[in-house]
Amino acid sequence: MTEHSLSRFFRVHFPPPAYMALPTVGVDISTSSMKAVHIKEYAHGPEVDIFDEVALPDNVMSKGDITSKQSVADALKTLAQRHGMKAVHVSLPESKSYLFELKVRGKNKEEWRTAVEQSLDEYVPLPPDTVVFNIMPLKVVAGETLVVGVGYARKIVENFLQVLEESGVEPASFESEMFSTARALLPAHMDETVLIVDIGKTTTKLIIAERQIPRFATTLDVGGDALTHSVQKYFGVSEEEARKIKIEHGIVSSGGKEEYLSAMLLTASAIRDEVTMRLEYWQNRTRTNNLFAPVTRAVLVGGNATLRGLPEYLSSTLRVPVVLGDVFTNFASLDTWLPSVDYAQSFAYTTAIGLALRDYVQ
Ligand SMILES: Nc1ncnc2c1ncn2[C@@H]1O[C@H](COP(=O)(O)OP(=O)(O)OP(=O)(O)O)[C@@H](O)[C@H]1O
Ligand SMILES: [Mg+2]
Repeated sequence: MTEHSLSRFFRVHFPPPAYMALPTVGVDISTSSMKAVHIKEYAHGPEVDIFDEVALPDNVMSKGDITSKQSVADALKTLAQRHGMKAVHVSLPESKSYLFELKVRGKNKEEWRTAVEQSLDEYVPLPPDTVVFNIMPLKVVAGETLVVGVGYARKIVENFLQVLEESGVEPASFESEMFSTARALLPAHMDETVLIVDIGKTTTKLIIAERQIPRFATTLDVGGDALTHSVQKYFGVSEEEARKIKIEHGIVSSGGKEEYLSAMLLTASAIRDEVTMRLEYWQNRTRTNNLFAPVTRAVLVGGNATLRGLPEYLSSTLRVPVVLGDVFTNFASLDTWLPSVDYAQSFAYTTAIGLALRDYVQ
């Protein structure tokens, strides 16, 4: 079983061309739900023709671990049946990844891979024969290629493979979620370095990416649910009610609600302080190391991205403009089509969109 799964992983890493002709769906498995996106190509450009999600019960996905394979497989089966999907691009959790970069000699991906293999233990603190990794070239520096690599314990990938096997869906590829998120939000050939802040249910993910390639990523253990819980505690209301209040009032000061606001800011400031610290560290490094470019803006995504007042609140300490991410930047102009999810929801689909975009290399 294990050997079988693993050989399959390597096969899907370099899929035969015919395989890619199948309609491939991007599937993002995260704490709150499993999200699926499928893209359709038109003369005027690609559109998303399927947005769908299946809620996951609490504690099925926890800190990047699949704690109930059966529940995840059931959710995937549901999505597969609804949409007749055969093959999927699946995201792997940032919190389980090892992101690294190094300069290597060589002319192509195979040669770079071989070079990385020889020093893999310097970048991934696991026995090399228990690691699966992938690399992406970033740029040429003094005759060498700076590659970004990402490694996972083989066991993690095997767990995802078992879920796919159980649900009868073929893996087309696996990708670390920060690569998918960056692909969704950034145009392919823009040199800008951007900070992506993905505020989900139980986590906030920070990604600093250059030309769709992450160069720093981390997962904070606090997300939008912490804000909902602050509201619940403060008003003594149900979770459902608290969510509504949160959406209506956000973190904006409005007359007579000062205590509510300070309860919210207690959590929001925890996120803001962490983000500020990571960004400052990056910005400082760019002053002494010209391999790194300063971040010029921050973009917000995730189910909580549209929290009222959040961009203003973050920009006060980040010292870069903070805007909502454009998850449709790599699609046909929105003058020509209307996404079937509402605006606030679309930000939760960022990773799934990026996965689906794998088949549309610009
Ligand atoms: N319109 C909205 N306004 C504010 N918050 C919202 C809205 N819609 C959904 N949410 C919140 O977004 C969260 C889900 O977001 P998302 O799907 O990005 O999380 P996730 O990726 O499943 O979680 P994690 O990243 O922690 O694994 C929930 O906390 C939900 O309450
Ligand atoms: Mg998420």
